Amino acid sequence: MADLQAALAAHVSAALTAEFGAEYAGADPLIRPSAFADFQANVAMALAKRLGLPPRDVATRIASHLDQAPMCERAEVSGPGFINITLSDAWIGEAAAFQLGDPRLGIPVSDRPQRVVVDYSSPNVAKEMHVGHLRTTIVGDSVVRMLERLGHTVIRANHIGDWGTNFGMLLEHLIDIGEQAAYAQLAAGEINDFYQGAKVKFDADPAFADRSRRRVVALQAGDQETLRLWRTLIDDSKQYYNAIYAKLGVTLTDADLAPESFYNPLLEDVCRDLERAGIAVISDGALCAFPPGFTGRDGNPLPLILRKSDGGYGYGTTDMAAIRYRVGDLGADRIIYVVGSEQAQHFAMVFAVARQAGWLPDSVIAEHAAIGMVTGTDRKRFRSRSGESVKLIGLIDEAVSRAEKVIEDRYDDPELRAQIAHAVGIGALKYADLSVARESSYMLDFDRMLSLTGNSGPYLQYATARIRSIFRKGSVDPAGETGPIMLTAPAERALALRLLGFGAAVAESAQTAEPHRLAAFLFDLASDFTTFFEQCPVLKAESPQIRSSRLALAALTLDVVLAGLDLLGIPVPDRM
Ligand code: ARG
Repeated sequence: MADLQAALAAHVSAALTAEFGAEYAGADPLIRPSAFADFQANVAMALAKRLGLPPRDVATRIASHLDQAPMCERAEVSGPGFINITLSDAWIGEAAAFQLGDPRLGIPVSDRPQRVVVDYSSPNVAKEMHVGHLRTTIVGDSVVRMLERLGHTVIRANHIGDWGTNFGMLLEHLIDIGEQAAYAQLAAGEINDFYQGAKVKFDADPAFADRSRRRVVALQAGDQETLRLWRTLIDDSKQYYNAIYAKLGVTLTDADLAPESFYNPLLEDVCRDLERAGIAVISDGALCAFPPGFTGRDGNPLPLILRKSDGGYGYGTTDMAAIRYRVGDLGADRIIYVVGSEQAQHFAMVFAVARQAGWLPDSVIAEHAAIGMVTGTDRKRFRSRSGESVKLIGLIDEAVSRAEKVIEDRYDDPELRAQIAHAVGIGALKYADLSVARESSYMLDFDRMLSLTGNSGPYLQYATARIRSIFRKGSVDPAGETGPIMLTAPAERALALRLLGFGAAVAESAQTAEPHRLAAFLFDLASDFTTFFEQCPVLKAESPQIRSSRLALAALTLDVVLAGLDLLGIPVPDRM
């Protein structure tokens, strides 16, 4: 039972073919959840036009077949020709028991597996990762987990910013203060201070600015000593990102680094080929592409700059090389850029130019999975009290230490407490981010994210702990509970029906690159479980059959919540 709605759609299709013949088999029955029944099918209206019959008649004739399918308890025509379908309790129970025995828990394997490049996290060398990178990292990591589970081949691309004119001043500053001092500062996480040190001198001291420009030239020319120093900066930053990834439980490794500098050898060809194709032209000394449909406020065409008038390449050039490489060399069918929404226009232009050039054929999907702003509780851009951007590592540590306070009085063993606090703090931070639609701005509020009630990470973690404690109390092994599942109360039915929607929730979240859909599903599931648990005694059920059925429902809920949280990248403590 991979997907409830798909199974139902198949039934409706079979019913309409049986009634009207094979030539109508292609009509797509739109199935959606309904407030009046379990689902509503919308197929009769479109079909009625083709058949030249009243829509309600068409609906009634299809419905008469559905009544006989074991899956359907009732099919009723409503409105202009909708079919409201109520599933049979017996069927739901059987499907849930089947799901419990399925190692995939109903998550489908894609019948059209793709190669998907996911460009995410992508911080900048020798610059502090900011809260925006926290979001691109967490959302991207959940998207790759879901895609892989669905059977797609995922290529993680951490497009770190390790190139550009900034490196002239950074390297000169490094030389000025001495390597030892610079590395000590970077290792201490004082990346902003290091960066600011360089910037202040660059703005104030013309001689320093001059040296910095010469240093850029030396870097681009491949000067050995300059390259050595540049690499040390990158190694330092890598260690810093990796420490953050490790704390967050993010799946990125060094093997996933696809830095901007990787594309250096390809940039000249990018410019040459676009110029030859007539897509790029010289404008004010710079080589630019002007994709159709992009105009500035003044109404003039907007350029994607490929080569500046001083001969230098920029962010746009690298992205053109990257997209060509990802399609041409990596064989991507789909490319997802998990990047801040302020770069929407940049990506729209990159995609447009790549389409013009034929580097991005229609068969390949390129999409910007835009990430909204992180705000403080004042709803303004998230900043520290002194107005600077906040260090990510400090934020992560704060989430964990606040979590420790929340659970302080519950555990005496300091090691166990630290372990639980880590899972709760990280889980809270990640879930708070993942549960908000990625394009919306998101308010970073420690109190709310750590609350044990409401839509929070700890609430879901706690739900798993509660289910585990049922099994502990009854000395029952959840793995031994296999059903059969019988539905004897409305709360059982609602829970089972929700559980059957897991596969579709995962597939839809991956399809839209929107983990908040899966988060919402898990929250609804936990709420359904709470109602079930309040209304239906499990260990003290009225008969051994009902007890075993309810234990099976609890075991399935536990499995699904754990699998879902894993797809979100949220750690779960065994106890809470
Ligand atoms: N380094 C960039 C930033 O911090 C993000 C890069 C996103 N990926 C890309 N292919 N442009 O904003």
